[in-house]
This record gives sequence, C-alpha cells and structure tokens, in this order.
Amino acid sequence: MPDLLPMLGRTHGNRSAVTCALKCDSACARPVPNLSTEPTFAAVASQALVSRRAVLVGGAVAAAAVAGPQLLGLPEAAAVEGRPAPGERAVRGGFSFTPIAAVSDDVDAMTVPRGFSWHPIIRWGDPLFHDSPRFDPTQPDADAAERQFGYNNDYTDVIVTDRRGRKALLCCNHEYTNRQIMFPPTTTPEAEADVLRALMAAHGFSVVELERRGTRRPWRYVQGARLNRRITATTPFLLDGPAAGSTLLQTAADPTGTRVHGTFGNCSGGTTPWGTVLSGEENFNGYFVADPAAPGSARYGLTDKPSSYGWEQVDDRFDATKAGYANEPHRFGWIVEIDPTDPRSTPRKHTAMGRFKHEGANVRVDDEGTVVAYMGDDERFDYLYKFVASKKFRPGKSAAARRHNLGLLSEGDLYVARFTGEQRPDNANLGTGRWLPLVRDGRSQVEGMSVEEVLVLTRLAADKVGATPMDRCEDVEPSLKTGKVYVVCTNNTDRGVKAGKPGPDAANPRAANKNGHIIELTEAGGRGDAETFEWDLFMVCGDEGQAGTYFAGWEGPVAPISCPDNIAFDSRDNLWISTDGQPGSIAKNDGLFRVPLAGRERGHLVQFLAVPVEAETCGPVIHDQDGSVFVAVQHPGEDGTWAEQNSFFPDYVSAGERPRRGEWRGPRPSVVQVVADR
Ligand code: FEO
Ligand code: CA
Ligand code: CA
Repeated sequence: MPDLLPMLGRTHGNRSAVTCALKCDSACARPVPNLSTEPTFAAVASQALVSRRAVLVGGAVAAAAVAGPQLLGLPEAAAVEGRPAPGERAVRGGFSFTPIAAVSDDVDAMTVPRGFSWHPIIRWGDPLFHDSPRFDPTQPDADAAERQFGYNNDYTDVIVTDRRGRKALLCCNHEYTNRQIMFPPTTTPEAEADVLRALMAAHGFSVVELERRGTRRPWRYVQGARLNRRITATTPFLLDGPAAGSTLLQTAADPTGTRVHGTFGNCSGGTTPWGTVLSGEENFNGYFVADPAAPGSARYGLTDKPSSYGWEQVDDRFDATKAGYANEPHRFGWIVEIDPTDPRSTPRKHTAMGRFKHEGANVRVDDEGTVVAYMGDDERFDYLYKFVASKKFRPGKSAAARRHNLGLLSEGDLYVARFTGEQRPDNANLGTGRWLPLVRDGRSQVEGMSVEEVLVLTRLAADKVGATPMDRCEDVEPSLKTGKVYVVCTNNTDRGVKAGKPGPDAANPRAANKNGHIIELTEAGGRGDAETFEWDLFMVCGDEGQAGTYFAGWEGPVAPISCPDNIAFDSRDNLWISTDGQPGSIAKNDGLFRVPLAGRERGHLVQFLAVPVEAETCGPVIHDQDGSVFVAVQHPGEDGTWAEQNSFFPDYVSAGERPRRGEWRGPRPSVVQVVADR
C-alpha cells in the first residue's frame, strides 16, 4: 500500500500531523495560497496587547501547554463524569448542568457533567438499509460502505419531524477518511484499489431516520427506514446557478458542465428555514492531481504531486492533468444543498454562492423576507463572504412555497467582507465593515472577470477587491433571535510571523494566533442585504490567564478554550462552541462550551463535555428544552495505526474481550447524544 502517513507529533498549527495531512492536505506546512494579502489596518505589535485579565489572573496555562500527548494503550472507562470546574456553580436555565473542568488530552473517554449520560446514536459502519452488510473493517468493500453510515461525521442536525417528538431525521456529512486506522494493510495493488473505493464510499452525507419512545429520552436510528440515504463520492449532483454549463465546468465526461459525481471534504453546514441541509465542500484540493500552472491552481492549493487520498489510481477524473479532466477540480469547492425529505431528489451545487474552501453556510431570513447566507473560507488569510438571494422567502408548507424556496440559493448577489476598526489595549476591539460586491444584479463587479470567472475562481475575485484576510473562518452563523452574526476564526499561526504576510489587525488581533477568536457582527439596520455592518470582538480565546484573551468583558472565571470551530444556539440564545485542535494548543481534549450572549453573564464561558483522545468535537445540536445535546465525534484516535489503535471509542471493547455483534475494538466516529438522566 502507499506510504501515506509516516509522521507523528504536532505540526506548527494546532492539529496532529495526521489530521493535517488528511483533513486539509497539510495546508499549514505549505505556503499560504493567498499571495495577494496586504494588511488592511495598521499592523499592531502583539507585544503591546496585554489583557487586563492577564494582569489580574496570571499565566497559568503555559506549563500545561508544553506537555506532549500521552497515548493510552488500553481503553479507559467508556464514560467519565466530569470533575466540576473550579469556581463554577451549576448553570441554570432551560438546561441546567454543572460545568466540567478541562480534560487532559490523553483521556480516551467521553466526559460529561454529573447527572448526564451519553449514547452513540450511530457509528461509522452501522447498517442503514435492510440489505446493508454488517460492519466489518477487516473486509474493506465499497458496496458495503455505500450502505452503511460513513466516516468522520462533521456537520450534524437532528430535525424533529413529528409533533410528539418521537421521530426525527439525522442529517450528517462525512468529511474525510483515515486509511491507516480504518482498514488493515494490504499486500497487492488490487486489494489496495478495493480499499480506495471503500474509502470513497465512506465520504459524503447520510440521512437517517430516528425514533424514540418519548421526549427527554435517547434516540435510536431505524435501519431500513424510508428516508434513509447515503450520498458518496460518486452520487450524481446537479450544478445550478449562473456558472452552471460554463466552459470552466465542462469535462470529457460531462460536456454540459452541469452534472457532477459526488461530494467530499464536506465540513460544516447549516439547515435552511425551508428544511434542506447545506454542506460546505472544503479541502477538495487534497483529492486531485492538477496542473500547478493552470488558472487558480496555486490560489486553491492544487498541485501535481500524488494526492493525499490516491483516488487518481482508481478514477481518472482525479488526475486533472489527463486529457479532458482539467476542469474537474472546478466542480468541487461549492455549497451543496440536499433535501433530506426526498431520497430520490438530486442534490445540487450552487454556483451562485461562489467557489472556495467552504466551511459551511448558514441562512437567515430577515424581517423583510430577504434570504442571506453567511459563509467562511477556512484557510489562513482567506475571507468572509455572504450571499443575498434575489428572491424573498415564501413562508408556509404548500408545494408552491416549497418549489419557490428550493430555488432561493440559485440566484443572488455575492459579497466579501472588509473590516476596519479600532485596536484596544485589552482586545475589546470594535469597528465597522463593508460588504464588497463581487456579483450584483447578475453582473460582475470585479474588473476583468466575467460572472462565471468570479463564481468559479472566487478567491481571485475577492483578492482584487481588497477583502480582509481573516484567521480561518469556520462556522459563520446568525442568531435567529437577534440577527447578530457570529464569525468563528479558529486560528492562524502565520499571522504576523511569516515574512510578507499581514500582521495583527483589529478584527484579527493576535500575532501567531494559536487559540482563535469570535467576531460578533451586526448588519446595518438588521437587514440581510445591508452593505455595511458594525462588529466587536466577542471572544479572544485561550486560558483566562493568558495575555490577550477577552471574554466579552466578563471578569469572573472562564473555561480554557482554544480553536473554536462549530457553533450552535440553544432556545435561550446562548452560544455553544465546539473546538478542533485543543490537544495541540493547550494539551486538553477538544470540547463543547456554552456562553451567554446577553445579560449579566455575557462572556461567562463554561465547558459542557469533552470528546475522547485525538477527536474533534463537531456539529453541536442543542435541544436544551428536551434535555439533550448532540455532538459528532470526529477522528477519535486519529494518530493510531491498524495494529496499534489509540482510541476505542465508542464500543470500548477490551483487549481479549470478544466484541458483541456490530462492535469493534477500534475507533469509530459517531454521533453522540448526551442526555440528562431522568
Ligand atoms: Fe473542516 Fe474548517 O474545518
Ligand atoms: Ca470545521
Ligand atoms: Ca453550526
């Protein structure tokens, strides 16, 4: 088999080297692809940024941050009751819990608050259909994988579909795979080709029906349910919007430029008010061999080296240097829309929303019915975007309303953000900003680029108009209560460090930003189609004692947090934040945190759970009024090997113990429900 992942340890970013290689094609180890970046504010020396908090509390996290990971050879207990966080009392509201203390990054367990338990609703390999084969990682098989739950669940939603709260749809994407820990080594090229096909089939998206006996109880998935669906790297998609059919999207296999097979690298997403699910195609470049001199290749990180995944060995379209396939990479990097209520529907890729390394898209309908989607490009020094639909939202559940709303993301205006603002001594920064149009009223707003070029090579268009280079925008999500938009910047260790790259600015305030921050953005007049906004820094992450941290002005104790990634809101408009990268930055397992956005407790961050060793916390879904929180536990035990696994989540089969039916002694990414004990 190919020599894929020889490295161990941490990269100069925050993730393990294995996660970096698989998830983003080791983007941190390569030059930043945005060569256009010019600081848009006066650079501010980070040394000057000493937080008031730091002076008061001192720098306690430093010692912990240098401790390396210690991997356990044996399974821990399946669940650990979290040690109460020092200085914290039970958090009250629709959902009460005692905050947990941070969990060391060598613990292979789900850690939840006292009085809660966790249940995997569905795991990698669980059979979805009546005829699905039983999970057996010793026999990699694409046909089986297409009929089982996929790998590395990221964006997740649980959409309750009946009034009694007993039926729901679980919608979940499958970002990437880890060949080394999923399947045994092979000895022949033919056997390895079978592995590659099985890995392709473990990507994509799943829709799974859930049921339960009553509210405030655990859900279970229904094998063979009518709406169950798997979308993989080979499922037919339609391209729609202004660039569909463009010569930039045509290939030998699709001279129409409108039909694509598959989706992969799907990171976060959002559920629309009309009941569909959006998912962002993010690090698609790692799946292709391409001509590095082709337009856009450098800017999108496409190279002619063998791809991280090796799919070009079994499918010619992944080698874009082959005749007729030069445009295949242009057919990825989109927002896809999936209708989970119609398993026969053809999912779509929306060219109107632009092509970049899409983290996700989250929609708000403003008071005027204007539909706006907020989107981040998750790469160091890339940009924040918004799409404003041409047509208004049509409320109601009629067939006509549904047809209308399904077309909303196919036509509209595309903007990219420029921030200006004020650097304050304690990072309580604020300022204003402008949405710079890229496409408006069907016309390109970028000199020298057609609408099709702007939409297919969106990064190049945004470079030209002078957008603000950000610290890796992950989830960008509006509160549906206040309309304020929360922009999660996960980290950027190159800011102010790499020669020629931008230094800190008001909206990205730290050099070598290892811990990330969250911006709170308020549209002018609360309008989705506003062209200006105001913003403030809501949170500058790290430990409470670390220089430069800021928690919306809160002066009491806070949980240490690093590398915020996905966010969600509960029924009281508290913000929930999941992390990706804490082991590499603060030597803690990744977790899920809660913070009030308003009132006396604004900024008071507490931790709710921690995921097992080497896992990332994804897709939080907060059903606080039902006593439940859902997380997608992605890449547990990522740094292991087939012979020596580092995590045994969630089955926790002990050495020598015979696995029960459907269980396995190895890590399985899973969607977990954490539910208050009755
Ligand atoms: Fe897949 Fe932006 O993290
Ligand atoms: Ca993410
Ligand atoms: Ca989210």
